[in-house]
Amino acid sequence: MISFNHFLREKGVSNELRSLLYHISRSVKYINFSLRAGNTGKNQSQNASGEDQLKLDVMADSIIMDELKKSELAALVISEEQDKALNFPAPRGTFSVSYDPLDGSSLVDANLAIGSIFGIWEGDQLMGTTGRKKMIASCYAVYGPRVIFVIAVKGKGAHQFELNDVGEFILVEETLHIEPDSKYFSPGNLRATAGNEKYLALVQSWIAEKRTLRYSGGMVPDIHHILSKSEGIFSYPRDQKHEHGKLRLLFECAPFSLVAEEAGGTSLDQEGTPVLDIEITDPHQRTPIFIGSKNDVEKSIATLQ
Ligand code: AHG
Ligand code: MN
Ligand code: MN
Repeated sequence: MISFNHFLREKGVSNELRSLLYHISRSVKYINFSLRAGNTGKNQSQNASGEDQLKLDVMADSIIMDELKKSELAALVISEEQDKALNFPAPRGTFSVSYDPLDGSSLVDANLAIGSIFGIWEGDQLMGTTGRKKMIASCYAVYGPRVIFVIAVKGKGAHQFELNDVGEFILVEETLHIEPDSKYFSPGNLRATAGNEKYLALVQSWIAEKRTLRYSGGMVPDIHHILSKSEGIFSYPRDQKHEHGKLRLLFECAPFSLVAEEAGGTSLDQEGTPVLDIEITDPHQRTPIFIGSKNDVEKSIATLQ
C-alpha cells in the first residue's frame, strides 16, 4: 500500500507542494463525510456567477478555505463560491489555489457522483498569466460509491488514489493515460445544437460511428470516465445565450486541462487554442472546452470551424 505522500516524495515533488496537497486531501475527506451526513437543501443565496448555492456548496467552500489557511502555503485563494480572490499569510511558501468546492451540486439530490476540483499555481498573481506559465499541479476528487483522488503534477504525470477504510489515500493507478482515439463520447450542452449546425453534425457523426455515450451531467465523473477508460471526449461548447459556454477557466477547465495533458490527452477551446494557453483576465472567466483523446478533440475542433 503506497500513500500519496510517500508516492509523491519518491517522484521528487517538493515538501511544500506535498504539504499543500495533504491539506487539500484533508478537506476532501471532510467534504466526503459531510456529503454522507447529507443536507441537500438550498442556502437561499447565489454565488458570483449568479447560481443558487446549496448548503453543501457553502459548507464545502468553507472546509477547503479553512484547510488552505491552515497550510500557510496558499497566499492567494480563488473559489467558485466567492466573489473575489482572497489573500492569506503564507510564511511556508507562495502558491495560489483556485477551486470548485463542489462540482455538479445540482446532481446531489439525485445521488449521482459529484466532485471537487483544484488548480495549484506558482506565486500570488493569476491575472494576465496562463495555466501553461503558472499552474504546477491540479487535482480532483470524485465522491461516488468510492472516493477517488487524482493528482497531476506538471511534468510528472497523473496518478489515481482511493480513500481506504482507515481514511488514507492509497495509490491505485500509477500512470493515467489517454489514447489518441476513442469510442466514447460525452457531449455537454446539447442545447447548443439548436443554434449551431456544426455541433449538431459533430454529435450526429459520433452517433453514426456507433460510439458509446457516457454522460452523467457532472464534469468530474464525466472526465474521470475518460481517464479511467483511457479514452473519450468531453465537450462543452458555447451557445447563443452563453458566448463563453458555462464552465469556468480557473475552477474547472484549467485544472482538468493539466490532468488531460499530463495523461497524454489534449484540451482545446472552441477555436482550437489549448485551454492552458488562454490568458486569465477575470477570476470567474468561462471558456468552451473540448477535452480528452487527442485526435478526437482536434478533429472535432476542425469540424466546428
Ligand atoms: P457546478 O455544480 O460547479 O455549478 O458545475 C456543474 C457543471 C459541470 O459539472 C457539468 O458538466 C455542467 O455543469 C453541466 O451543466 P448543464 O447541465 O447546465 O449544461
Ligand atoms: Mn463546477
Ligand atoms: Mn461548484
